[in-house]
Amino acid sequence: MYALASRATRGVSLMCGIIGRVGRDDAIESLVTGLENLEYRGYDSAGVAIQNGAGIKVEKRSGKVTELKHALDYGSLDGEVGIGHTRWSTHGPPTDENAHPHTDSTRDVAVVHNGIIENYASLKESLRAAGHTFTSDTDTEVIPHLIQQYLDEGLEPEAAFRAAIEDLEGSYAVTAMLAGEHVLYAARQGSPLVVGLDEDGFFLASDVPAFLEYTDDVVYLEDGDVVVVRPDGIEFTDLAGNAIDRRPETVEWDPEQAGKGEFDHFMHKEIHEQPTSLAQALEGRLDHDAHDVTLEHFPPGTFTDIERVQFIACGTSYHAGLYGSIAMNNAGIPTTTHLANEYEVSAPPADEHTLVIAVTQSGETADTLSAMRHARDQGARVLTVTNVVGSTATRVADDVLLIRAGPEIGVAATKTFSSQAVMLLLLAQRLSQDLTGASLANLEALLADLQSFPDAVERVLETTDGRRLATQYLGCQSYFFIGRGLGFPVALEGALKFKEITYEHAEGFASGELKHGPLALVTPDTPVIAVFTGQEDTKVLNNAEEAQTRGAPLIAVCPEDHQATTIADAHLPIPDVTPELAGLLANVQLQLLSYHAAAGLERAIDKPRNLAKSVTVQ
Ligand code: G6P
Repeated sequence: MYALASRATRGVSLMCGIIGRVGRDDAIESLVTGLENLEYRGYDSAGVAIQNGAGIKVEKRSGKVTELKHALDYGSLDGEVGIGHTRWSTHGPPTDENAHPHTDSTRDVAVVHNGIIENYASLKESLRAAGHTFTSDTDTEVIPHLIQQYLDEGLEPEAAFRAAIEDLEGSYAVTAMLAGEHVLYAARQGSPLVVGLDEDGFFLASDVPAFLEYTDDVVYLEDGDVVVVRPDGIEFTDLAGNAIDRRPETVEWDPEQAGKGEFDHFMHKEIHEQPTSLAQALEGRLDHDAHDVTLEHFPPGTFTDIERVQFIACGTSYHAGLYGSIAMNNAGIPTTTHLANEYEVSAPPADEHTLVIAVTQSGETADTLSAMRHARDQGARVLTVTNVVGSTATRVADDVLLIRAGPEIGVAATKTFSSQAVMLLLLAQRLSQDLTGASLANLEALLADLQSFPDAVERVLETTDGRRLATQYLGCQSYFFIGRGLGFPVALEGALKFKEITYEHAEGFASGELKHGPLALVTPDTPVIAVFTGQEDTKVLNNAEEAQTRGAPLIAVCPEDHQATTIADAHLPIPDVTPELAGLLANVQLQLLSYHAAAGLERAIDKPRNLAKSVTVQ
């Protein structure tokens, strides 16, 4: 089985799916099939561009690929060269205008893109000054305009494409076509792009499933690669135009399974996507030189009117909110956390000096939306931390902070939780400066650990013993998860994940609470999983020992040389990092423990009984 996680989906960007086709037959059918196969990468809008005799014809729509499909006039879309795209928004809501492909004003250049162009605002400004007009809110639209600009300056098409690519900062997989040419140009930097080879031509795509019905012969592009694809051949070069050697390989995937790659479930795949989704969340947001964070829309001073923070959220997002609130309280920011469905019935006072942070990966949870509206009615400033551009939460909120996790298909939230929590740590730094005049106490260490955090998560994924432990402790009566401080929300989240996908009884406790009741339930048949973050670990260990003394097997989630390993019955190791991030590494171990337990029990992991990904009723 091919290692999808380490090749096709590693590198920044899980958002959006690209498909391109150059061949000797009409492209439209394979493009639409490719888009349907790539919907797991994004599904808020879709589009195609076909090179036919009359130039480039573009069709694009907000909504799912089926909506595009119904709108297509196949008769006007005959042509052997084309590109397509299914989008997961990062810049601008999912509208027809913001859907890809994007073109320049003359429609001579069409482009699809996956990733984030960090310098798009300055590029847009200089292109505007040179007379270009834009029709979308996207970062992508600067690319066709740049190519057109270089063509106007007299460069040949390939040189114009390369020049435009050289101007881009950020992450991208880009595929472009020019009117009148039977050629596709593509480049990769930080976002995946793969070439498919069949008897009649070539495919370009974000991922292999896009074209698996047609071919299993592929070439994975590397960062810095530029390819020029014609019906009769393909040139692999570096950005400077030097030829490079790229060899085809054959993948052994079943098309039905392909969206999940080497994994049996989307949840497992999404757990493994966390190094990528976290890198994506952090991209451009850490400023080591300034010893600060850079959050777009939230420059220093944004929150100087704010005196207190209230979190509202449900489910896993509530646990992320608790995590953020602990970091904020530790920084001296008065912060409370509320289940969104309880917020209105026991609403704490809120006014224009209150920042209400609604954490919701979908942006559509009815309980959270209702609480947001209530907070707004009280005069509070409402900020949402969400994964979905254009969701209802983004429209109700005054401010939006995107977690950029890419689509999450598994009902049990995994990668969205880690990205939410990390974004809240960055927000804690901005609020700390604005409200207290000081940075987070351990900002230096946090920034350093954040920089390598995706790698630390990768290490957990590579070395975990979660499957063996899940098997060893399968079939127990109950599972108790405990933690203190930042370890407490992780314990709650660990228990929630465990119960929702295994259907076994699991509870999360503040470790100090164990002795105030739950200890009565502890027996040799109730494993206690203890999370150690480096914050008050001795107390957690004492609490864990109290359970162990009553016969409970103790599983410690902590660094290798931690004191807990000397008494624990089993150990799930995490790299030694700051407490703010240790909890999140522990959470990855707990996600894996739950996953493997549920897999052992053959549960419906991606769609657990009675649960829905997004709950839009109160
Ligand atoms: C549902 C899901 C949970 C999720 C919760 C909040 O109950 O099953 O996994 O945590 O909604 O969803 P949100 O989209 O607001 O984060």
